[in-house]
Amino acid sequence: MNHAIEAMKPSASMVLMAKAKEMQKKDPTVIGLAGGEPDFNTPDRISMAAIRSLTEGNTHYVVGPGIPELRRAIAEKLRRENGVECDEGCVLVTPGGKNAIYIAVCAVLNHGEEAIILDPAWVSYEPIVQAAGGKAVKVKLDYRTDYRITREQLEAACSDKTRLLILNYPNNPTGRILHADEAEIVEQFMLAHPEVYVISDEIYEKLVYGERSVSIGSYKSVADRVITVNGFSKCAAMTGWRMGYLTAAKPVFDVIYRLYQHSLSCMSGFMQAGAVEVFNCEREMEEMRRIYEQRRDMFCGALNAIPGVRCTLPEGAFYAWVYFDIKGMNSAEMCEYLLENAGVVGMPGSAYGEDEACSMRFSFANSTEDLERAAAKITAALKALA
Ligand SMILES: Cc1ncc(COP(=O)(O)O)c(C=O)c1O
Repeated sequence: MNHAIEAMKPSASMVLMAKAKEMQKKDPTVIGLAGGEPDFNTPDRISMAAIRSLTEGNTHYVVGPGIPELRRAIAEKLRRENGVECDEGCVLVTPGGKNAIYIAVCAVLNHGEEAIILDPAWVSYEPIVQAAGGKAVKVKLDYRTDYRITREQLEAACSDKTRLLILNYPNNPTGRILHADEAEIVEQFMLAHPEVYVISDEIYEKLVYGERSVSIGSYKSVADRVITVNGFSKCAAMTGWRMGYLTAAKPVFDVIYRLYQHSLSCMSGFMQAGAVEVFNCEREMEEMRRIYEQRRDMFCGALNAIPGVRCTLPEGAFYAWVYFDIKGMNSAEMCEYLLENAGVVGMPGSAYGEDEACSMRFSFANSTEDLERAAAKITAALKALA
């Protein structure tokens, strides 16, 4: 057995999503807010394009990094919207953003080399680094400073084995976006460490409720060491399609693509034909974003009205990151308490590496009705506790 993989913890979000489904079988009033899954269906024109392509017989291997139309559309989007000087020859279409991150990490790290992860962080970065034979070095960003990146913390985490820094903005779970002043700190750090690459996971990019998040790949001085990852799961409601992509400078891209050829061969042609239509669905994506924004305002507003509860409005993604100022309870206990007493399944902050503040993450990619009920149930359960 591979010891690193054997030692991995199961994905906490998948465990809690499954638990919510199990509980709902016995009690349909249980509300699952643990997963990061849009409740919308994929816009029709995307699905219809895939169906058309499928019925036309596009069912063979499509050898290569992706179909030209899709790679071209992705490259144009990255240049236009993100300021990333992307060549379509360096775009790789992957089975979800998760796989893009996995193969990128494998391609960058040698055994024993280190990747810096900024906590609170998505649950899969550390296991992915471990699976690649690397070592995850955690930087605990401070909730008291709203998780701002500091140069001092990056330097303290950096050793002669550091080869990678993983960034995720808009952030899961905190909802923070990357502001220009923090991006400049990352740029300066990279300039001081020319052997360090960055994976910039921008999967929630279009789900922002004010200014856009900065793409670190748009900084020309370091762009050749940035691997930008994105995908269609969250912004276009395509989680079940498993479609993502990455772009990197040619020398890095070539190494990643070698692993892709041997581990995947290629993506499905008809699904890629569907994904081309994502770039004609700005209106539909904007409509979903607008609804998430309304839900965010309602749900976070209701939680903020509970004494001892604080939820800063997230700047992006679709998670409420909530602090509980309730003595004697940590986040795992709070998660368990709300599960048992409110019938609301959320994620404990500890799953993301936040073990100082008692925090939880609730997804607001759920119906407004469920979110209203969840807020009322959480309110009642916490009142009972007081
Ligand atoms: C921060 C982050 N990155 C990447 C992913 C992977 O998304 P997918 O593989 O569905 O594209 C997720 C999904 O939850 C996520 O939250």
